[in-house]
Amino acid sequence: MRETQNLHGSAGQFIVFEGIDGTGKSTQISLLASALRQINYQVIETFEPTHGEYGQKIRSLYSNRKTISPSEELELFITDRRQHVQEVILPSLASGKMVLCDRYYLSTAAYQGAAGLDPAEIIARHSFAPTPDLSLIIELDPADCIRRITDNRGDTLNDFEQLESLQKVDGIFREMKLPYIRRINGSVSQQEVHLQVLHHVGSLLSLSELPGFT
Ligand code: TYD
Repeated sequence: MRETQNLHGSAGQFIVFEGIDGTGKSTQISLLASALRQINYQVIETFEPTHGEYGQKIRSLYSNRKTISPSEELELFITDRRQHVQEVILPSLASGKMVLCDRYYLSTAAYQGAAGLDPAEIIARHSFAPTPDLSLIIELDPADCIRRITDNRGDTLNDFEQLESLQKVDGIFREMKLPYIRRINGSVSQQEVHLQVLHHVGSLLSLSELPGFT
């Protein structure tokens, strides 16, 4: 296994994918996981909301969001994350794994921020949560995202995905300024997005000698 160095005091590395719905985060996580496994990293792929007790509660609200207030929703996401951090993220980082996570607290800042709460206060609630080594925000025009969700996946839009609210969420993501954020242009082909991801991960891990990691 490769040895890694990082800033949050654990042996592993923590890479988060963020962005509005339909930007292709989960595809990119699988592609990155395969690329890293090929060069002998131990990789864990995980996601929020989780499939735990609170994540399931959140999912049950997808089609019925108006039944709880934005602050009650915030508490559910934070409680789900506390459990995820304790049970999955910290133990994996402590054992030296590469943790790839689909959404983390910047999603809460953006989505619950769009629902009327203060994004900075939301981020400040996360002192319990390890800071990512890298947050890759995949950016794509909200109208294109909606088109992808409805055309390609054949899905109907859940309450988190309506155009106007996605535009607000997108606006908050675009304003975020944190040292560990890198922005990815999501409007190009999957392979081109993957190359952008490899570029940022390559600089984080000093892998520039390897093909694709430039
Ligand atoms: P998503 O990543 O789309 O999960 P799945 O692919 O399993 O449906 O997340 C579900 C929705 O939850 C998505 O629209 C974004 C929203 N969300 C928040 O509003 N706040 C959060 O903190 C997180 C993690 C997600």
